[in-house]
Amino acid sequence: MDMRVQPIEATEAAVGQAEDTTRRYPWKLGIVIALGAGLWAVADCSLAAENLMLAAHAAGLGTCWIGFAQGWLGTPEGKSALKLPETDIPIAPIIVGHPKSVPPAVSRKPPRIDWIT
Ligand SMILES: Cc1cc2nc3c(=O)[nH]c(=O)nc-3n(C[C@H](O)[C@H](O)[C@H](O)COP(=O)(O)O)c2cc1C
Repeated sequence: MDMRVQPIEATEAAVGQAEDTTRRYPWKLGIVIALGAGLWAVADCSLAAENLMLAAHAAGLGTCWIGFAQGWLGTPEGKSALKLPETDIPIAPIIVGHPKSVPPAVSRKPPRIDWIT
């Protein structure tokens, strides 16, 4: 699967006009983009996105996958604003920034594990 991570400078254009709580602080946007619609495009790019987020965390940075921007990014208007070729498929818009604070861990539901015997 061919893919690339594209840093976006025009962050306002990249997320459209919608409001998002994550826009309160300075951040950069990177998009994991599939170069064509391969069978595993979403899975491969999602794995790359997770690696990007883990590497950023290891470097003391905060990240958030901005899924609400994906719909617009995938439209002809969104691709045109980001100067992406029509064949590119934006899969994972990830904002990266310096967290002002580290929130405490939230409680988790117990995992459901079904053993297939
Ligand atoms: C596919 C996907 C899309 C997401 N889109 C958004 C988003 O548009 N805006 C946002 O604030 N958080 C978004 N998130 C982050 C989630 O709201 C949540 O913070 C994150 O999955 C971590 O969950 P946790 O707090 O339970 O660990 C997205 C997460 C995923 C996996």
